[in-house]
Amino acid sequence: MPPATPLLALSLALSLSSSIHLAYAATAQVFAPPSRGPLVQSANYTSFSNNTLRDTRVVKGRVFDRVIQVWLENTDFETAASTPIFESLAEQGVLLTNYNSVTHPSEPNYIAAVGGDFFGAHDDNMYHIPSNISTIVDLLEDKDISWATYQENMAEDAYYGFNYAAPNYASPTSPAYPYYVRKHNPLVIFDAISQDKERRGRIRTFNDFANDVVNGTLPQWIFVTPNMVNDAHDTTIDFAASFLEYWLLPLLTDPRVNSPRTLVLLTFDENETFGKQNRVWSVLLGQAVPLKLRGTTDDTLYTHYSTLSTVQANWGLKSLGRQDTNATVSNVFSFVAEKTGYKNVEVPSPGIPRVPQFNLTGVVPGALTSAQFTPFSAPNLKAKGAGHGGVLIRPGLNEKLTVDKLPKPVNMLALNKTTPWQMSPRTTSGKNIIPCADANCA
Ligand SMILES: *[C@@H]1O[C@H](CO)[C@@H](O)[C@H](O)[C@H]1NC(C)=O
Ligand SMILES: *[C@@H]1O[C@H](CO)[C@@H](O)[C@H](O)[C@H]1NC(C)=O
Ligand SMILES: *[C@@H]1O[C@H](CO)[C@@H](O)[C@H](O)[C@H]1NC(C)=O
Ligand SMILES: *[C@@H]1O[C@H](CO)[C@@H](O)[C@H](O)[C@H]1NC(C)=O
Ligand SMILES: *[C@@H]1O[C@H](CO)[C@@H](O)[C@H](O)[C@H]1NC(C)=O
Ligand SMILES: *[C@@H]1O[C@H](CO)[C@@H](O)[C@H](O)[C@H]1NC(C)=O
Ligand SMILES: *[C@@H]1O[C@H](CO)[C@@H](O)[C@H](O)[C@H]1NC(C)=O
Ligand SMILES: *[C@@H]1O[C@H](CO)[C@@H](O)[C@H](O)[C@H]1NC(C)=O
Repeated sequence: MPPATPLLALSLALSLSSSIHLAYAATAQVFAPPSRGPLVQSANYTSFSNNTLRDTRVVKGRVFDRVIQVWLENTDFETAASTPIFESLAEQGVLLTNYNSVTHPSEPNYIAAVGGDFFGAHDDNMYHIPSNISTIVDLLEDKDISWATYQENMAEDAYYGFNYAAPNYASPTSPAYPYYVRKHNPLVIFDAISQDKERRGRIRTFNDFANDVVNGTLPQWIFVTPNMVNDAHDTTIDFAASFLEYWLLPLLTDPRVNSPRTLVLLTFDENETFGKQNRVWSVLLGQAVPLKLRGTTDDTLYTHYSTLSTVQANWGLKSLGRQDTNATVSNVFSFVAEKTGYKNVEVPSPGIPRVPQFNLTGVVPGALTSAQFTPFSAPNLKAKGAGHGGVLIRPGLNEKLTVDKLPKPVNMLALNKTTPWQMSPRTTSGKNIIPCADANCA
C-alpha cells in the first residue's frame, strides 16, 4: 500500500472509525437461550452434571421453607423499574423500594450477603477468606437446613479459578466468552466452604440445578448467579429481562421450584452510579408471599444484610455477629418480621444525611484491603440477631480479637505487599469438564 496523502489518511481514518462504529453496533449482544429450558441440561452451560443432591428433608420455617436469591448486576433502580418484565414481576410480588447494596464494586456485596461483612474489600480481586470466619452456611447447617449455590457457566462444581471462558453459544464463530467470574460466586471465596470436602459439592452448576429439580432434591437455601451476559453485567437490562423470561418465569410456575412455601428474592448487586446512594431494584416473589401483599410496595430500609437476618428470623438461627446483627442495616423483610415478632427499626428516608449511603469506596479498614490492612476480627459475641440464637463460632477463631482490639491498619502497598488473603488470579484449564453422561443432555 502506497503512503497515504493527508487527504487519503483522513478519509481512511473516517471510514475506519465508521466501520468501527458499525462493527460495534453489529456485535451488540442479543439474548440467546443457553438451553431448551432451565430444567434441560445443555452443553452451553459448560459442564454436564455428574451428581444430584439428596436433599429431601424439609426443616419447617416460620414463614417459608425455601428461599431462592437471584442476583443481577449493576443497574440503577429506575432502569429496572421501567422495564416491562420487571414491572410485571413487581405486580406479582412485593417491590422493595428502599433496598440498598452495601458498597461498590461487585465482589464485596456478594461477600457481605453470605459473610455479614465485606471485610474492607473494595475491588474485585481474587481473595480467599480463612476457615475461622463463619457464613450463612454454618448457620443453616447448625439447624440441618440444606443449601446450594448455582453458578451459570461455572466450569465444574466448586471450580476455583478467577473466571472461565466457554464457547460463545450466541455467536459460535466468536472467541470463547468469559461467562463465569469468581467475584460473583461468594461461597467459593470462603475456605470454610470451598476447602471442605462435603461442602464444596454444593457449589454447583446450572446443569446440576436441572438435575436437582428434576430429581426432587432442590435444597432449602439457594443462591443463583446468572452468567455475565444474562445478569446484565456485560449487556443491558433488556437482555437480562429476556433471560428472566427464559429462566425465572417458567420456574415461578413450577411447583418443584416455587413450592407453596417458597420465597424468591430477585435483586441486583449494586446500582450503576457510584456517586449516589446505592439503592437497587428488588422484589420478593414466590408462593410464600401472602396474596394480599402481591402488587404492593414496601419502603422499609433493607440491605443485602437483610437477606441474612430474614433467614435467621425464619428458622430461628444463630447469627454471624457482624453486620447481620446491626439493626440499622439488617431490617427483616416486613411480612417475615411481622410473623416472627422481630421489630424492625425505622431509618430516616433517603436524602436525610443520617441515612447510610452504602457507596463507600476504599475507606474501610479490613483484612481484604491492602491499603488499610487489619487481621480478620472476631464477631461481636454479645450481638443479638433476628433468630435469637447467639453467635456462631467456627473452629480456630480467636474470640478475643474483637474489632476494638485490632492493631492499627497497615498500608501493605507502601511495603510492596498485598493483604495475605489476595491471590494472583488463576484459571484452571477446564480439562476436567464433565461430559454428557445421561439421557437428559441436549
Ligand atoms: C446453545 O445455544 C444456542 C443459542 O441459543 C442454541 O441455538 C443451541 O440450541 C443451544 N444448545 C443446546 C444444547 O441447547
Ligand atoms: C463430579 O465432578 C467433579 C469435577 O470433576 C468431581 O470433583 C466430583 O468428584 C464428581 N462427583 C461425582 C459424584 O462423581
Ligand atoms: C437425576 O436426574 C437425571 C435427569 O436429569 C437423571 O438422569 C439422573 O439419573 C437422576 N439422578 C438421580 C440420582 O436420581
Ligand atoms: C455517595 O453518595 C453521596 C450522595 O449522593 C455522595 O455525596 C458521595 O460523594 C458518594 N460517595 C462516593 C464515595 O461516591
Ligand atoms: C442509585 O440509587 C439512588 C438512591 O436510591 C437513586 O436515587 C439513584 O437514582 C440511583 N442511581 C442513579 C444513577 O440513578
Ligand atoms: C451499623 O451500621 C451503620 C450504617 O452503616 C454504621 O454507621 C454503624 O457503624 C454500624 N455499627 C456497627 C457496630 O458496625
Ligand atoms: C482467623 O484466622 C486467620 C488465619 O489463621 C488469622 O489471621 C486471624 O487472625 C484469625 N482471626 C480471628 C478473629 O481468629
Ligand atoms: C517498592 O518497589 C519499588 C519499585 O520496585 C521500589 O522503588 C521501592 O523501593 C520499594 N519499596 C519498598 C518499601 O520496598
